[in-house]
Amino acid sequence: MTSLLSSSASPRAASAHRPLPRALARMLSLDDFEAAAKRRLPRPIFGYVAGAAEDNQSLRGNRNAFTQYAFSPRVLVDVSRRTQQTELFGRRYASPFGIAPMGISALSAYRGDIVLARAAREQGIPAILSGTSLIPLEDVIRAAPGTWFQAYLPGDPQRIDALVERARRAGYETLVLTVDIPVSANRENNVRTGFSTPLKPSLRLAWDGLTRPRWLAGTFMRTLLAHGMPHFENSFATRGAPIVSSSVLRDFSARDHLSWEHVARIRRQWPGTLIIKGILHPQDAALARQHGADGIIVSNHGGRQLDGAVSPLRALPAVAEAAGNMTVMMDSGVRRGSDVLKALALGASFVFVGRPFNYAAAVGGEAGVSHAIGLLRAEVDRNMAMLGINHVQEMGPDLLVREYPHPA
Ligand SMILES: Cc1cc2nc3c(=O)[nH]c(=O)nc-3n(C[C@H](O)[C@H](O)[C@H](O)COP(=O)(O)O)c2cc1C
Repeated sequence: MTSLLSSSASPRAASAHRPLPRALARMLSLDDFEAAAKRRLPRPIFGYVAGAAEDNQSLRGNRNAFTQYAFSPRVLVDVSRRTQQTELFGRRYASPFGIAPMGISALSAYRGDIVLARAAREQGIPAILSGTSLIPLEDVIRAAPGTWFQAYLPGDPQRIDALVERARRAGYETLVLTVDIPVSANRENNVRTGFSTPLKPSLRLAWDGLTRPRWLAGTFMRTLLAHGMPHFENSFATRGAPIVSSSVLRDFSARDHLSWEHVARIRRQWPGTLIIKGILHPQDAALARQHGADGIIVSNHGGRQLDGAVSPLRALPAVAEAAGNMTVMMDSGVRRGSDVLKALALGASFVFVGRPFNYAAAVGGEAGVSHAIGLLRAEVDRNMAMLGINHVQEMGPDLLVREYPHPA
């Protein structure tokens, strides 16, 4: 088995060796990064990261779901040998969580995707590079071997083949297909905050940039000077093509006709680990298994696609049952070590976290992301001790009770 553990990735050592910059020392939980990122980022970019679809029902539901379960801990168990190391697809990771794919991260932090991927590698956890990254996928895996690649499938089979082949040639071993985006979501918040892709110059953006000089100089101008105008890099078979008036467009064509046949085609072509992200229905979990997926990520895209979609935590037990022996992971709304452990108790083997790591990159670059990983890792470790377990696999439904919402 390959281990992705580096020397600094032991549960209690995270970020203990290097003194933290003052701005990071004030970050005591993942949520703390949000307010700091809001001050650092222009409004349209912060809004793009923080926002969800329509009325934010799923966004709120994702967090609420965790409050509906309470722990039933065991005491007087010797927990001095506890470890949160987790085996996944033949690798050993330092913690049972990783970094979810997030498009356009290079607008939050300079070389954002590389920052996320390198911090993850250093801390012994997986990061998934987004298909809508502004950095070529080849550059990211060179900087952080072991990174996973997430693709949005173009509608045309030849293009699918070419993109999958490009990821394979670059050295990716894990391919994540995101399938919950047959059409673009209704992100009214992007219109309200003035966010667009490609980023269009506007008075508001100019003002926001000027009033946030650290972002303007440290992220935007630095990117512009070193790499040119940011553009989508990973939708097509080759780096950087085709150029359309200084921006490479995302290939959103014909995604609404994608079906399980396309998944079957990719399964025949892709020799590595294949994961389907965006599953919420038990029957789709069963179909993913029938089509040869190695794993699924139960996800409602952080509430950014179908507003009103069930929270993944709530969907987990039924989906995990339908998945049989296929690996089940989840994301959406995970913010605390206790959330990670609740998801594991309800049938996930691993979880992914999105927005907080994006904010951490914006606030503190690679050190910020490492610090965020360390905080979550310390929470998992502390909670494992208080729950009376030595291994994350010991988390099961017997350690949870269902709490019903208290009247307000
Ligand atoms: C800014 C941003 C960009 C995202 N871009 C992608 C993407 O390119 N591909 C994808 O599969 N999911 C994308 N997602 C969804 C995440 O992978 C993940 O499902 C979600 O963020 C998890 O919810 P959380 O932010 O509450 O942790 C994005 C999420 C955010 C916040």
